[in-house]
Amino acid sequence: MAVHYKDLGLVNTKVMFQKAVAGGFAVPAYNFNNLEQLQAVILGCVESDSPVILQISKGARSYANQTMLRYMAVGAVEMMKEMGGNIPIAVHLDHGDSYELCVDCIHNGFSSVMIDGSHLPYEENIALTRRVVEYAHEFDVSVEGELGVLAGIEEEVSAERSTYTRPQEVVDFTKRTGVDSLAISIGTSHGAFKFKVKPGQAPPPLRFDILEEVERRLPGFPIVLHGASSVVPEYVEMINRYGGHMEGAVGVSEEQLRRAAHSAVCKINIDSDCRLVITAVVRKVLTEKPGEFDPRKYLGPARDELTKLIKYKNEVVLGSAGHGREIMAAINS
Ligand code: G3H
Ligand code: 13P
Ligand code: ZN
Repeated sequence: MAVHYKDLGLVNTKVMFQKAVAGGFAVPAYNFNNLEQLQAVILGCVESDSPVILQISKGARSYANQTMLRYMAVGAVEMMKEMGGNIPIAVHLDHGDSYELCVDCIHNGFSSVMIDGSHLPYEENIALTRRVVEYAHEFDVSVEGELGVLAGIEEEVSAERSTYTRPQEVVDFTKRTGVDSLAISIGTSHGAFKFKVKPGQAPPPLRFDILEEVERRLPGFPIVLHGASSVVPEYVEMINRYGGHMEGAVGVSEEQLRRAAHSAVCKINIDSDCRLVITAVVRKVLTEKPGEFDPRKYLGPARDELTKLIKYKNEVVLGSAGHGREIMAAINS
């Protein structure tokens, strides 16, 4: 065992989810790949006293180096304390695609892993997920599984598609795998182009009927919503104004996310929104100051804007603000 998450000052997701289910809010899971994104997540979550899940994809891991990421997570915990914060921080593998990757992350200080067997036949998904759960639980690491496939970035989401989670499978899947949380597919997709809609048209509503049926069959069980960026129009407009081309980018409305957070959804995954803010601000600064070449001068303002967005999401959309200290107290009691 190289390093255990508890030695890094991290927590698993167990108490976070218990509190989120009982309190009708969702814990934010923000992806990060670099220093400025991580700083913004910590600043925004400490300033809003929110629990947080720092989410690392396989791609992020190879981009930033696994050892570097481990030290960044330690740095995040120390920075949080130095700021006078006392919020629970989990480090989670996003969309783990193999047993070996999950094991490696567990050995490298992750407190939670997702094993995404959603593309596999049902029985294979169960077998793989069960294997990861057995190993992870030896180290008190949480495991997220997935049932139902999220539509691809370019694919149209329509009610006819058979990629939604089948509520009749959720009890069998959670019982046989022993997962701590379950990601479901109710009409969201990854990326900044979630729905194909004509200008002025509202995107189709999420399948809350499926979510409600899952909740009825699994009362109190933590449900996870992927592909939950709002694709904030203000930042898409800024990108387009300063030389980008993101016409037609659209996400999940805040109103629907609020509704999901009040229900069984206790973890909401956000990556694209964080990417959009950074890109929008960097484009603006470099367009307005073409002679600027100090990365601090464009990454700094991008980080500040992302901090604001994270606070806003915690306070106004997910409802996680104000629950950080309370969860830490419960973990330490
Ligand atoms: O769900 C996918 C996340 O947004 C991570 O994306 O694999 O490009 O890092 P990535
Ligand atoms: P978005 O692309 O909507 O931000 O979703 C991120 C996600 O689900 C990461 O797992
Ligand atoms: Zn995802």
